[in-house]
Amino acid sequence: MGSPRWLLASVAAACIGATYAQPAPAAQARISAAIEAAQKSNSTDIDYTAFVNPFIGTDYTNYGDVCPGASVPFGMVKITTDLTGYAPAGYIADPTQKIRGMSPLHDSGTGSSLGSYGNFEVMPLLCPGGFDTCTTTLAARETYRMNDTDDAYPGYFSLTLDNGIKMEATSTRRAGLERFTFPQGWKPYFVIDLANDLPASFAGGTLNIDPANSRITIGGHWGSSFGPGSYQYQAFACYDLSNNGTQKLSEYGIWTGDGYGLDAKGLGQTHLNLSQNVIGGPPYESGALFSYDGNPEQVILRVGVSFVSTDQACANAEEEIGTMSFQEIQLASKALWQEKLSKIEIDVVNTPANVTEMFYSSLYRASLTPNNATLETQGAFANTTSFYFDSLYCSWDTFRTFYPLMSLHSPVEFAQIVDNYIDGWRKLGWMPECRSNNLPGWTQGGSSGDNIVAQFAVNYHNEAKALGIDINELYAALVTDGQVNPPEWNTMGRQVNVYKQFGYVPFAVLDTQSTGRQTREGSRTLEYAFEDFGIRQVAQVLGKSDDVEYYTNRSYSYRNVWDPTVSSDGFKGFMQKRYSNGTFYYTDPIGCSPRATTTQDCSLQQDNTNGFYESSSWEYSWYAPHDTATLVELMGGNPTFGERLDHFFDGGYYLAGNEPSFQTPVGYHYANQPWRSVDRVRDVVINNFSSDLVGIPGNDDQAAMATLLLFHLLGLYPVPSTTHYLIVSPFIPKYTIHNTYLKTNTTVTVTNYSAESVAYPIPNGVPAYVKSVTINGLPAKSRCYVDFYDTFRVGGTIEIVVTDEKTYDCGGNVPESLSTGGFASAR
Ligand SMILES: *[C@@H]1O[C@H](CO)[C@@H](O)[C@H](O)[C@H]1NC(C)=O
Ligand SMILES: *[C@@H]1O[C@H](CO)[C@@H](O)[C@H](O)[C@H]1NC(C)=O
Ligand SMILES: *[C@@H]1O[C@H](CO)[C@@H](O)[C@H](O)[C@H]1NC(C)=O
Ligand SMILES: *[C@@H]1O[C@H](CO)[C@@H](O)[C@H](O)[C@H]1NC(C)=O
Ligand SMILES: *[C@@H]1O[C@H](CO)[C@@H](O)[C@H](O)[C@H]1NC(C)=O
Ligand SMILES: *[C@@H]1O[C@H](CO)[C@@H](O)[C@H](O)[C@H]1NC(C)=O
Ligand SMILES: *[C@@H]1O[C@H](CO)[C@@H](O)[C@H](O)[C@H]1NC(C)=O
Ligand SMILES: *[C@@H]1O[C@H](CO)[C@@H](O)[C@H](O)[C@H]1NC(C)=O
Ligand SMILES: *[C@@H]1O[C@H](CO)[C@@H](O)[C@H](O)[C@H]1NC(C)=O
Ligand SMILES: *[C@@H]1O[C@H](CO)[C@@H](O)[C@H](O)[C@H]1NC(C)=O
Ligand SMILES: *[C@@H]1O[C@H](CO)[C@@H](O)[C@H](O)[C@H]1NC(C)=O
Ligand SMILES: *[C@@H]1O[C@H](CO)[C@@H](O)[C@H](O)[C@H]1NC(C)=O
Repeated sequence: MGSPRWLLASVAAACIGATYAQPAPAAQARISAAIEAAQKSNSTDIDYTAFVNPFIGTDYTNYGDVCPGASVPFGMVKITTDLTGYAPAGYIADPTQKIRGMSPLHDSGTGSSLGSYGNFEVMPLLCPGGFDTCTTTLAARETYRMNDTDDAYPGYFSLTLDNGIKMEATSTRRAGLERFTFPQGWKPYFVIDLANDLPASFAGGTLNIDPANSRITIGGHWGSSFGPGSYQYQAFACYDLSNNGTQKLSEYGIWTGDGYGLDAKGLGQTHLNLSQNVIGGPPYESGALFSYDGNPEQVILRVGVSFVSTDQACANAEEEIGTMSFQEIQLASKALWQEKLSKIEIDVVNTPANVTEMFYSSLYRASLTPNNATLETQGAFANTTSFYFDSLYCSWDTFRTFYPLMSLHSPVEFAQIVDNYIDGWRKLGWMPECRSNNLPGWTQGGSSGDNIVAQFAVNYHNEAKALGIDINELYAALVTDGQVNPPEWNTMGRQVNVYKQFGYVPFAVLDTQSTGRQTREGSRTLEYAFEDFGIRQVAQVLGKSDDVEYYTNRSYSYRNVWDPTVSSDGFKGFMQKRYSNGTFYYTDPIGCSPRATTTQDCSLQQDNTNGFYESSSWEYSWYAPHDTATLVELMGGNPTFGERLDHFFDGGYYLAGNEPSFQTPVGYHYANQPWRSVDRVRDVVINNFSSDLVGIPGNDDQAAMATLLLFHLLGLYPVPSTTHYLIVSPFIPKYTIHNTYLKTNTTVTVTNYSAESVAYPIPNGVPAYVKSVTINGLPAKSRCYVDFYDTFRVGGTIEIVVTDEKTYDCGGNVPESLSTGGFASAR
């Protein structure tokens, strides 16, 4: 999803000026010391996990919505605390918000919602007056934390409440250990919450205390965080309370409450069976309460989760954790992260320290999501033999940079996710677009999953079979998305019936066969056209020449919403929505941009009449990544295109945190002015990203933003659904991308790199502009882009020589466009 700025503008204003009291300054000091030590030692044996700052994007001004919780790579479990206020990932650094528990299920980076998961919270309590006085309800148990104490690193999270209780967590894929340290002399009490989750969507469930086995099991149904309110998912948890028999339960019982006087407790009772509170209102409040004998200072709880059953939740904890210690689980998690982070090794010695921190923190998030829920399937996916990932959270976000990055180094994991997309088509009829909480979420631009599976197919069709993917089946799924109109396209597929009929998605069209929210006609046409390009690319791989021609034609549909008569700020020609009779419906191109003069809804709301999704026409008019040459022509040729891009940025239309803007800084490449892309990317990285809490300019969107930053730092930019990567200008003097499946290592060296070029503007005389590109000793065809098949697929060295001579061009080889003969054959 995009940023929730439309919903939250007033909140944002209120927060400006607050000072950070979280995380602990010691966390940053540790990271800085680790980078400095690595720079000094010049060793190749580097602990990359020590460079990761999980708190980047946990601020409360830019809404990064990053989850800093303990997780393994692609973990279904991400343990962090749940806070009051706007905190979609559970945690938020804002010290003015209170903690109401720690819980095992979270998503990272998602926006536009009141939160996701947060089920099965546990909250440690001090109850000076004993069991009956414990503050169990949501409002009563909220507690501030001590300032400057939050900490996290890969595989570990901790937070200390202002009553002195320290909470720590580590995890495996489906289980975790939670360690609580109490002030000396206190009896430790705990609340375990049956009903509450972040979006307050409880729809009934049960809780059982088994005192003989020191075990609490929970199961129930909850609602979607970004999808139809009528959809529900099931989830289960199993808490083991005895820490391998070393902790002895004292009192136990159940509680129920509300904010209006209900605060009932049943000492010794062991069962709760609640149905959905159909009258509505505030969240249902109920759960378990227990304490331990002997005032132990430290208590460890083991939690397992499942989307199948409580039995499976208990079995997951037994299998993945068993009697292993907190430290053993933490070290195992760290080792898994080290493996992921080692996939791209950079020259730490000569890279500015803050670039190193940004780089590895982003690479960490690039393997944090989606959540691997394989063998934890429900509904139509129950017992599927395919891999299964939850929290895809909008393919519209991730196809642009997340999967193109994964293409470079992780085909095995990529194939698993592609399998999951194809399985979505098998089970529900169309590939998933925005699966969240195991449920179909809202569609944003159409079936952007098409561009994800196409990305895989064009890069790995030779290995697809060995990686478990049947390319013909993948193609059948694509063709369904491209041809079959779902009865409702709010959650899957596209409104292809009218799109095919008119060549664009018409505004105010009579559609007698399907339903969906009749908005975003301009951006849906542009996205549908690019999705068609993805299908075309796979048709080409499969040698289906008729389909190649057909989908090539359809991929030009973006031209059908180009209105050459519309002007704005002196520039002519803009994308506009259009009636079915062909007449354009004028909307001001600045509408829904930061410079809009009127306030209006711009997201999924029915009154978003603008024609574009979370964007202005100014922003979406750049969008035809497969055929930018035609946009250059439509906009009046190279010089005007470059001037118009400058005006887009300098005039305040660019939105650093919005996906449709991701590719605009490198647009100059297509106008044969690549040096301006170099300057623009420096501008964006220096001004809109950092290693601070506010380090990303909007929702991370399942690491869409993290992977965008990674590409900028690597000096590359992907053309999705192709094998091409634009060459910009690396922020790092040397790096190696390891692809263990292909058994290739590709080292990019930047000859004449200067750390002084990591600045905006780039100082005069400092080399940063590309003079030449050499691939394994031979001159590259273009200094503006490379092909995966010539580089990362074969391994070796790419040498980029940079100079301070600014005004270079791409020679005759600007990055390819379909209409000028580009993408002519599959590799
Ligand atoms: C670091 O090690 C590399 C080889 O691994 C060597 O070429 C280089 O000179 C060393 N640099 C320093 C500052 O010691
Ligand atoms: C924690 O920091 C916040 C914000 O700076 C401040 O308002 C609050 O008083 C601090 N709390 C303590 C216990 O120092
Ligand atoms: C909970 O109650 C419902 C009906 O009130 C019943 O159908 C169900 O079996 C009960 N579940 C458990 C686990 O007791
Ligand atoms: C768990 O308990 C068993 C039986 O008391 C003991 O043999 C084992 O060492 C314990 N494991 C740990 C990690 O403490
Ligand atoms: C899935 O498998 C389990 C165990 O074999 C079985 O109980 C359940 O009915 C199956 N569910 C579906 C939907 O096939
Ligand atoms: C997902 O989990 C399954 C089952 O444990 C495992 O085989 C697979 O490698 C995991 N995939 C990723 C990307 O972590
Ligand atoms: C593609 O478009 C061209 C030019 O408009 C047209 O001649 C051709 O018939 C179209 N092909 C298909 C398969 O639609
Ligand atoms: C097309 O339809 C719109 C909306 O009904 C109308 O305003 C416009 O005049 C029509 N254009 C033509 C050419 O009939
Ligand atoms: C890194 O820190 C330096 C010094 O504070 C600053 O000038 C530079 O802009 C930072 N780089 C990035 C990429 O944020
Ligand atoms: C990006 O940086 C520019 C220039 O400093 C600034 O105007 C803009 O507000 C920033 N955008 C975001 C989303 O941080
Ligand atoms: C690639 O790099 C890895 C890790 O440094 C090394 O073990 C492997 O031998 C290298 N492979 C090739 C083909 O150079
Ligand atoms: C590196 O930069 C220096 C000074 O700008 C220049 O003289 C030299 O030719 C450059 N080296 C290469 C390989 O371009």
